[in-house]
Amino acid sequence: GRVWSKVGDLDEAAAGRPVLIRGFAHAIRPVSKKMAFVVLRQSMSTVQCVLVANADAGVSTQMVKFATALSKESILDIEGVVSLPKEPLKSTTQQMIVVLCEYMFSAILQVEIQVRKIYCINRAIPTLPINLEDAARSEAEFEKAEQAGEKLVRVGQDTRLNYRSIDLRTPANQAIFRIQCQVENKFREFLLSKDFVGIHSPKLIGGSSEGGAAVFKLMYNGQPACLAQSPQLYKQMAICGGYERVFEVGPVFRAENSNTHRHLCEFVGLDAEMEIKEHYFEVCDIIDGLFVSIFKHLTENCKKELETINRQYPFEPLKYLDKTLKLTYEEGIQMLKEAGTEIDPMGDLNTEAEKKLGRLVREKYGTDFFILYQYPLAVRPFYTMPCYDNPAYSNSFDVFIRGEEIISGAQRVHTPELLAKRATECGIDVNTISAYIESFSYGAPPHGGFGVGLERVVMLFCALNNIRKTSLFPRDPQRLVP
Ligand code: 4AD
Repeated sequence: GRVWSKVGDLDEAAAGRPVLIRGFAHAIRPVSKKMAFVVLRQSMSTVQCVLVANADAGVSTQMVKFATALSKESILDIEGVVSLPKEPLKSTTQQMIVVLCEYMFSAILQVEIQVRKIYCINRAIPTLPINLEDAARSEAEFEKAEQAGEKLVRVGQDTRLNYRSIDLRTPANQAIFRIQCQVENKFREFLLSKDFVGIHSPKLIGGSSEGGAAVFKLMYNGQPACLAQSPQLYKQMAICGGYERVFEVGPVFRAENSNTHRHLCEFVGLDAEMEIKEHYFEVCDIIDGLFVSIFKHLTENCKKELETINRQYPFEPLKYLDKTLKLTYEEGIQMLKEAGTEIDPMGDLNTEAEKKLGRLVREKYGTDFFILYQYPLAVRPFYTMPCYDNPAYSNSFDVFIRGEEIISGAQRVHTPELLAKRATECGIDVNTISAYIESFSYGAPPHGGFGVGLERVVMLFCALNNIRKTSLFPRDPQRLVP
C-alpha cells in the first residue's frame, strides 16, 4: 500500500518529501484562476496546501478550479510535496486564513504542502448545520468579539448534540475523548497490575441493583426485567465465585429524571470489587494509587490534549496529593459548620454543601481530590457494611474532585442474615434478590469495592461545566437521538 502521513507529524524535517494525506477540507481559499489554498484538517491539526497551476508539476487550471469548488468538510486525499513557506505565513493577507485556524485548530505553520494531486473522496453538503469555527471558540473570544461590535454565533448545547458528528470535530472534543480513553486504559492497566481480573456482568437483570425505582423496565421473554443500574450484585457474586479481585468497565443505566449538569441516563461505570483482609481502607488505598497514577499519566503524557481543551474551556490544573487525603464524614460536617453551613449530621450532603466542602478542603489541605469516609448508614445502600462499633455509621466513602462526587464505595455485608435484614429495613423485597443473598450462604469472604463514573472523572479533571461534554452521544432524560 501507499504510505500515508499524519498532518500532526509534519515538520521542517519533512521538507522536500512527497506525502499523501487524508483529512477534512477545513477551509478553501481561491486566490486566482491559477492559485488556491486548501487547509486540510486531521484530528487536532491543520496544514495549508497550496495549488499552483504548473504544467511541469502536472497541476492544471482545471484542478485549481475543482479545488475552489469543493465544499468545506469534504474528505480529501492530497498528494504533494512538503515545503517550507517562502515567507512567514502570518504576515501575508493571502494566508490570513491559516492564522485564523492557528489558534483554534493548531495549524502546522512551519510547513505547507505543494499539491500535485487532489481527490475528493466524499463531498459534504455545501452548508453544514453548524460552523466548526464557531463551535470551537472559547467564551472569552465571544465576549471580546461582542465588545468589538462583531456578531458571532454561539452554538448551543442542544444544537451541538443534534449534530454531534460535526461537533466532535472541534479540537477540544477531539482531545476530550482521547483523554477519556486514557483514563479508561489506565484504570484497566493499574488494576491488572494489582491482580484484579476483568469481568463482564449481565446488563439484562431481574430487578434493581441499587434499590429504588430508577430502573429502565423491559420485558425479557415474557418476564419483567430491567437494565442494570450497576454491576453491584454481580461483582459481589464474582467475589463469592472466588476471584478475590475483579473490575468491570461497562454501561450503567439510570432512569433518573435528573436534568442536571452531572447526571446521565446511561454512563460508563468503572467498577471494582475486592476481598478485604483487615480493613476497608485497603479499598481506599487502591483508589489512592489508581487515581494518583491516572492524574500523573494525564499531566505528563497528554499535554497536547489538555492544552487543546484549555484553549476552548480554560481550567486550573487539578491539585492532588501524592497520598490522597482522607477525612471522616463528621470532620467534613464540622468544617462546613465552622464555615456557616449546618448539615444534619445523620443526613446526606447536598450538591451545594459538597461544592463548598470541596473549596474548604482546597484552602485547608491544598487538594481538589479527597476521600470522605464513614457515612451515616441511613444514607447508604442496603448492601453497605455498618460500622462494627457504631452501627449508626457505615464502612463507606465517597470520593470527590473539585467538590463533586466521582466515586462511591464501601465494605459490603457478607453474611446472608444481615443482608436480608438490611434489605428489608431499606424497603426491598428480599424475594427479588434471593439468589444474590443466597450466594453469601455458600461461603463469602469479607469484601468491598467502588464504582466510578468515567464521564464525571473527565468532566471534573478538566473542570468542564456539563457531563454532556464528556459523553460521546449522551443519553439524558430528553435525549435518545442521535
Ligand atoms: O454512587 P453510585 O450510584 O454507586 C454505585 O453504583 C455503587 N454500586 C458503587 C459501589 O461500588 N459501591 O454510582 C457510582 C458513580 C458515582 O460516584 C458517579 O461518579 C457515577 O457513578 N454516577 C453517575 N454518572 C453519571 N450520571 C449518573 N446519573 C450517575 N450516577 C452515578
